[in-house]
Amino acid sequence: MMLTDPATTRRLYGRRTGHKLRQGQAALMEELLPQLTLPDAGSLDSQRLFGDDRPLWLEIGFGRGEHMAGQALANPQVGIIGAEPFLDGIVGALMEIEGHGLTNIRLHNGDALDVIDRLPDASLDRVFLLHPDPWPKVRHAKRRFVNPGPLAMVARVLKPGGEFRVGTDHPVYCRWALMQMAKSADFEWLAETPLDFQVRPDDWPQTRYEAKARRLGHEVWYFRFRRR
Ligand SMILES: C[S@@+](CC[C@H](N)C(=O)[O-])C[C@H]1O[C@@H](n2cnc3c(N)ncnc32)[C@H](O)[C@@H]1O
Repeated sequence: MMLTDPATTRRLYGRRTGHKLRQGQAALMEELLPQLTLPDAGSLDSQRLFGDDRPLWLEIGFGRGEHMAGQALANPQVGIIGAEPFLDGIVGALMEIEGHGLTNIRLHNGDALDVIDRLPDASLDRVFLLHPDPWPKVRHAKRRFVNPGPLAMVARVLKPGGEFRVGTDHPVYCRWALMQMAKSADFEWLAETPLDFQVRPDDWPQTRYEAKARRLGHEVWYFRFRRR
């Protein structure tokens, strides 16, 4: 499905809706989601979202939210913004948040680029992009998140020294991402040996897509880039 946001004329590719919600899930959407949804307009910062000056992290396309919840649980001093257009993903995240009693996540049911637009320069300490849709056909390459436009947007909002993490199990995306990142003067690849990107770091909770990739016997790559 392709959707165009009338405010930005940005195109968002992929599914937004999936299964019919069960009763408990519908209740989470009605009661918990409004408490965690980003304010409709204006600049986004820690004070506004969490009432203090905590470090802010962003997860782009969090799927069902396993990684985001794992990070929130392990880092209660951090505030995490998660952006995901897929409604089943939002439900999954709400279940994680409720199940673990998490208070340090805020959600955007839509395009992560719309969130980035509203963040001040150098306001994030970390950005996660895990198993982005690969769009493997050459004619769809412009749809991949790792492209010069979105990368410049991520670079603007990351603090110098902040980290951009990209995970993928797709060989086309792996090569593409490394090529695009190498062309960007804003990022430095942190790997020193192949093990640094072949083995999942301890502080990198597994996502659903990663688990599926492992079950299928795929190799998975874990890239960490530092904002210069
Ligand atoms: C292949 S799934 C991976 C989900 C999750 N990160 C994981 O590893 O299990 C890619 C996700 O990115 C989301 N997505 C695609 N474009 C996006 C965008 N511009 N902003 C936020 N999320 C996006 C999709 O809805 C989808 O859930």
